[in-house]
Amino acid sequence: MMKAVLIAVTVLFHCLGQRCILGQEPLCQSHSSCSECIRSPGCAWCTRTDFLESGESNERRCDSPESLETRGCRKDHMINPGKNPLNFVKNSDLSNEHDNVVQLKPQNVNIKLRVGVPYEFTVEFKRAEGYPIDLYYLMDLSYSMKDDLEQIKTLGQKILKKLKEITQTVRIGFGSFVDKELLPYVSQVKARRRNPCPNRIDTCQPAFSFKNVLPLTRDAKEFEREVSKQDISGNLDAPEAGLDAIMQAAVCKDEIKWGNVTRILVYTSDDTFHMAGDGRLGGVFQPHNGQCHLNPSGYYNGKAYDYPSVGHVSRVLQDNNIQLIFAVTEDIYPAYKALSALIPQSVVGVLRNDSSNVVDLISEAYGNLSSTLVLEQEGAPKELDVSYWSTCKGNQADIEWKEKGECQGIKHEKITFKVRLNASACLKEPQTFRIKMQGINEEVKIMVDTECHCNCGAPEEASKHCNGNGTLSCGVCSCDKGNLGQRCECVQQSDAETIGSMLASCRPDNNSLVCSGHGACVCGKCVCQGQLRGNFCECDDRSCERHNNLICNGKGRCLCGKCDCEGNYTGSACECSPSQDKCMNDKGLCSGQGKCICNHCQCKEGFKDDHCSAFINACTLLKDCVTCHVEEGNDCAVRCLNATVSRLEGYHELHCTYGETMSYDVELGINGAIVLQYADLPRSVDKTTLIIGTSVSSIIFIGIIIIIIYRCLLELYDIREYQNFVKAQKQTEWKEVQNPLFKGATTTVYNPLHVNEDIEKEHSE
Ligand SMILES: *[C@@H]1O[C@H](CO)[C@@H](O)[C@H](O)[C@H]1NC(C)=O
Ligand SMILES: *[C@@H]1O[C@H](CO)[C@@H](O)[C@H](O)[C@H]1NC(C)=O
Ligand SMILES: *[C@@H]1O[C@H](CO)[C@@H](O)[C@H](O)[C@H]1NC(C)=O
Ligand SMILES: *[C@@H]1O[C@H](CO)[C@@H](O)[C@H](O)[C@H]1NC(C)=O
Ligand SMILES: *[C@@H]1O[C@H](CO)[C@@H](O)[C@H](O)[C@H]1NC(C)=O
Ligand SMILES: *[C@@H]1O[C@H](CO)[C@@H](O)[C@H](O)[C@H]1NC(C)=O
Ligand SMILES: *[C@@H]1O[C@H](CO)[C@@H](O)[C@H](O)[C@H]1NC(C)=O
Ligand SMILES: *[C@@H]1O[C@H](CO)[C@@H](O)[C@H](O)[C@H]1NC(C)=O
Repeated sequence: MMKAVLIAVTVLFHCLGQRCILGQEPLCQSHSSCSECIRSPGCAWCTRTDFLESGESNERRCDSPESLETRGCRKDHMINPGKNPLNFVKNSDLSNEHDNVVQLKPQNVNIKLRVGVPYEFTVEFKRAEGYPIDLYYLMDLSYSMKDDLEQIKTLGQKILKKLKEITQTVRIGFGSFVDKELLPYVSQVKARRRNPCPNRIDTCQPAFSFKNVLPLTRDAKEFEREVSKQDISGNLDAPEAGLDAIMQAAVCKDEIKWGNVTRILVYTSDDTFHMAGDGRLGGVFQPHNGQCHLNPSGYYNGKAYDYPSVGHVSRVLQDNNIQLIFAVTEDIYPAYKALSALIPQSVVGVLRNDSSNVVDLISEAYGNLSSTLVLEQEGAPKELDVSYWSTCKGNQADIEWKEKGECQGIKHEKITFKVRLNASACLKEPQTFRIKMQGINEEVKIMVDTECHCNCGAPEEASKHCNGNGTLSCGVCSCDKGNLGQRCECVQQSDAETIGSMLASCRPDNNSLVCSGHGACVCGKCVCQGQLRGNFCECDDRSCERHNNLICNGKGRCLCGKCDCEGNYTGSACECSPSQDKCMNDKGLCSGQGKCICNHCQCKEGFKDDHCSAFINACTLLKDCVTCHVEEGNDCAVRCLNATVSRLEGYHELHCTYGETMSYDVELGINGAIVLQYADLPRSVDKTTLIIGTSVSSIIFIGIIIIIIYRCLLELYDIREYQNFVKAQKQTEWKEVQNPLFKGATTTVYNPLHVNEDIEKEHSE
């Protein structure tokens, strides 16, 4: 069940990516050669010689393996590489044994990838316990480090003791640096050059860029002895030749005697460092070449090359698997912190101004360095995408494919990284690259190649399958010059002719099927199936229109889907007999007013009925004609439809009226001729006009009478009203003050307490 769902999901995803319809992979079928085919993910090629139908193109050989199988291609005829891409060359198990430590597995593999098909394999890592350590102590000997030097002289035993807590096998070495022996870094006054101390009492040694004092040794006594012999030195400017020294310490492998073990470089200083380009001040222009330049007594004066760049130093350290511990004083800590960020596998610790804490610092930094694992590739071709999936303990939550494999807080547990390779294009030739754990001396060597060419065995020249005219390879004929076709069976007519153009000539246009889907295209000509004929097999002599359930009404042959009628039969199904009997009547063929088509009348405009013997509307049809004659116009024959026109003498009232004075009549005569007669209407008894006139004038007369009566009544009413008004005015004689329109300007209000007095007063007045 799970499996089915998984397959369904895979197919769905596959399809989403390639816009496919389920069960079909059109993407595969646009490849016409085996090599092209297998460059597409998920496509396989069938080499069976008789796999294709004749006329099918070679592209059909390329399909998904499942489709090919259902189409009858067995697995042993199928080219579908990429099944077992991984081949171990060296795959020793992880081991902690003293003389055979293996921390990274596998060690060497060959991988053949399908383009666009990712491949995953696992890389295991386990840090060997008690793995030997080489520690090289690199010390700034500028004058400010005077007190530090005293401390370091007794350091050997302490460092060895501390590191022996981690591993039994420890070697230590010592080197020192000041600066290039050039102005302005170092004084060029002869006396100062010999003894560059600021005061004459001290003894200083001349300045140098780098000096390998003691190569790596197990002997702590020797370390202390050699370091004790060291004198402090001095220079003029603050920055020192630190990068020069790191470069030499890293690249002079034989002089330093680095072993194939954990390599640690401890760098102590109380000042900053010169960078690439600073050399110009001293007149040094040559960029550093990354070579060892120590003279036999272990000195590098630095006069020949500029200071190396940070990137260069970082690269060299990585290549040599050297881990770097900066032990620097607090005031310059930020500068080295920034530098450390640019150098993988490096840490910075704060050194006391007299270096008294350096042993603890080294121990802590070593712990920090070795608890971080970084797996990365080196030199992979650009067509190859390498990504990692780290399963570190504890941080299972946020795992995903990343550019680097990274784990932190690791001690000695086994860590598994998944590595995924995905080629985006074909590689020209096998390429080798490495996967490395930073700071570890081991690597996985990977030779990668892409499956871009089919291995179908030796091509068969003049193959029988190719009719002796072509070479058979991967089931496909490559035809000799002058031949074409799936089996080289066609003779090429012109140089421009190709399989494509031959195929094109088997169909009428690009959108049609080859040979209309009813035949095979053989050398540019259709070979049709069954009864079919025609250049494109488009003719079928059995499917023509039927009439009365007979093909072509039984009156013709069916040719290429069309009826070829016999006799005088017509129509798409020969359904029209040549006879015209149904069109005939006493007035001739369709009364002369139509055509007899298929023994049926098709009438002219204005006529109807089976034999066109009736007018649709005779009056309107010939009204123009009457106009023409009455007004004596030209070309009346055309407007009269060739009718025989005559004017009747006297007054007649005919079927159609023309204006107020005339009328006319139309008939269809013998032989279908139109006969038109017209005449004047009887004038005296124009009853219609009279009736209409009478009714109109009586309506108007009654209206006028009503208006007059209404007007008189209104007049009478007005007169009466006026008289009433005059009468009323005479009766009423208004005083002016009592005019209701007039109101006094004062208002009298009585105080209710004195109302009586006031009234009396008013009355007494
Ligand atoms: C370290 O390993 C390299 C190859 O991995 C080898 O060429 C070299 O000789 C080894 N060096 C020592 C000191 O074993
Ligand atoms: C070293 O640091 C101590 C205190 O941390 C200070 O007293 C002493 O002067 C310093 N010595 C030098 C040489 O800077
Ligand atoms: C070591 O790692 C711890 C924790 O990440 C950090 O606090 C400490 O400074 C580191 N020490 C060195 C010398 O890098
Ligand atoms: C692999 O590469 C192909 C082509 O570059 C790309 O289409 C595909 O998504 C890649 N697959 C993965 C899993 O990255
Ligand atoms: C090869 O083709 C040529 C025509 O191009 C033909 O004459 C010849 O017979 C063919 N050879 C064989 C072996 O069929
Ligand atoms: C058919 O297709 C070809 C190439 O796809 C094109 O060159 C040609 O013009 C097309 N012909 C027609 C009739 O569409
Ligand atoms: C077909 O009609 C033409 C004239 O319309 C006539 O000459 C001929 O004989 C007719 N053919 C048959 C087979 O009736
Ligand atoms: C009238 O008669 C002439 C000559 O016979 C003919 O060409 C024309 O088509 C006829 N017009 C009509 C409307 O029948």
